[in-house]
Amino acid sequence: MENLLNNINEYKNEIAEFVATDANAVEEFRIKYLGTKGLVKTIMGEMKNVAPENKKEAGQLLNEFKVFVETKFEELKGSTVNGQESTANTIDLSLPGDTLPIGSRHPVVLMRNRIVSIFQRLGFAVADGPEIEDDWHNFGALNLPAHHPARDMQDTFYIQQNPDWVLRTHTSNVQIREMEKGKLPIRVVIPGRVYRNETVSARSHCFFHQVEGLYIDENVSFADLKQTLYFFVKEMYGKDVKVRFRPSYFPFTEPSAEMDVSCFICGGSGCNICKKTGWVEILGCGMVHPNVLTNCGIDPNKYTGFAFGMGIERPAMLKYGINDIRLFSENDVRFLKQFTSAI
Ligand code: PHE
Repeated sequence: MENLLNNINEYKNEIAEFVATDANAVEEFRIKYLGTKGLVKTIMGEMKNVAPENKKEAGQLLNEFKVFVETKFEELKGSTVNGQESTANTIDLSLPGDTLPIGSRHPVVLMRNRIVSIFQRLGFAVADGPEIEDDWHNFGALNLPAHHPARDMQDTFYIQQNPDWVLRTHTSNVQIREMEKGKLPIRVVIPGRVYRNETVSARSHCFFHQVEGLYIDENVSFADLKQTLYFFVKEMYGKDVKVRFRPSYFPFTEPSAEMDVSCFICGGSGCNICKKTGWVEILGCGMVHPNVLTNCGIDPNKYTGFAFGMGIERPAMLKYGINDIRLFSENDVRFLKQFTSAI
């Protein structure tokens, strides 16, 4: 009797500690303790060796033990579902889930979208064109014949396999492609990447982005150009910003101008950004040169138009306080994720 008691207590400990990691282990448990040759049956078999006066007590003990083992068995079965380990006991389903990292827009894209959406409100559509361009669309049709000195204004990457191909030096190639389509009037903005063979530094890169604008119709005047750009500047930099046009030269526009805005960092009083001048240059523009219209099969006596082109990186650097243009193309998430909440 003493023996039986000790044994049962020992078995109880062993059974309490039993863990089943899968359905096989549960079955093993069943066979070992509840099977026909299992422990419960074996101990039951020992009843015959118990002295008659102890039989009642021993029977009770054994029954208790049997219930204990069966309860444990049910518990183990419950912890595995369909033969697979249940996670019910190990995972707290009330815990909040892992948040998925959300990507962010690139600052160049943010600035591009802002610029483009302002012109869209004026009725400009968005156009697109190739970054690998032939000489005619990047230069020739834009009134820059071979050996024209103005080609030196933009250091060009040439494609080795075909000397007629270049990486476009500006988005003005798409002006030509739009005009060639022969559908007038044209009112488009053209965002895109451009390439110039320049030494990479904190201030300049061998590729960057521009937004080009082109408007061709009857009776388009320089006044239209100015009003369009005034609207743009007000929307972009606020109504207090001052604007000035300086005469300039581009082979594909005549007359040509560069547009400055009063420095939006110091408000015009002079700082490092505007090099103490109070003004920041933001774009080049002008009336489309009659030669360019003729090159695209448009009658310059009937149609006139204006064009403008601006960089995206510079205004983005000023807006977000970025001091190195190389950051835009290094894909460092520590830099990129800072723009998560920017619109
Ligand atoms: N293509 C010129 C540049 O890259 C900008 C420009 C576009 C000027 C259209 C006038 C008209 O500098």
